[in-house]
Amino acid sequence: MLTFDQIQAYDSNGYVLVPDVFAPQEVEVLLANVTKEGRATKHQFNMADAAGRASKLSLWSDIGDDVFGAVSASPRIVNNVRMLLREDVYHWHSKVMLKEPRIGGAWEWHQDYGYWYGDGCLYPRLISCMIALDPATKENGCLKVVPGSHLLGRFDHGRVGQQAGADQERVNAAIERLGMKYCEAPAGSALFFHGNTFHASEANLSNKPRRAYICCYNALSNVPYGGKGHGRPVPIVTTPDDAILRYAESVVA
Ligand code: SIN
Ligand code: MN
Repeated sequence: MLTFDQIQAYDSNGYVLVPDVFAPQEVEVLLANVTKEGRATKHQFNMADAAGRASKLSLWSDIGDDVFGAVSASPRIVNNVRMLLREDVYHWHSKVMLKEPRIGGAWEWHQDYGYWYGDGCLYPRLISCMIALDPATKENGCLKVVPGSHLLGRFDHGRVGQQAGADQERVNAAIERLGMKYCEAPAGSALFFHGNTFHASEANLSNKPRRAYICCYNALSNVPYGGKGHGRPVPIVTTPDDAILRYAESVVA
């Protein structure tokens, strides 16, 4: 459970990094499932950055009866997101983010609400939670954020490579005023960030993969109009706390 100080940090900065949310054995099970034939490989596609380098992405909006579903519906994530949004939430989508060694591309500066505004959400009342499966470092393309940018409102986004990129002049002005932070994160940590928090990540220059799992949630009061958007707007039934480890055997088998 987040502490009062962590909630306050999120409210003023638009993000909070929480270490040790998942144990090394749980991260191991998740990593094994990232490469195993199945959900993560089936849904995979490339998103090229401005330089044409691809970052790999697998995305889905159902909470499956599998190890990834166990994380997306984990009380360690969902209850904290409920606290940060001060209301109940539903699953928007989840995704595995893979930056391959040396060739994995960047993510350009954007707000997630830059994408989701177009999905019919009237408010930016969405939260993403990025779980580091490999230690995320500056060298392998960890997330970087503009602290406090969640209070700026939504910027216009255009196309940068195959990605949505925010108006660069305004991003530069925001960084000049608010600064920028590299969120180096140990494996098993969870970075909760607001739908309007500016974030980006650089290419993976290291010789190891940078893998992460991101679960995204929308407030139940913020269901998109016109039947648009991702996920089913129903409350999440959280999984038992040992749910991830229960899938360990299916990995070994
Ligand atoms: C990344 O995987 O580094 C970027 C994630 C995001 O834009 O949400
Ligand atoms: Mn994003």
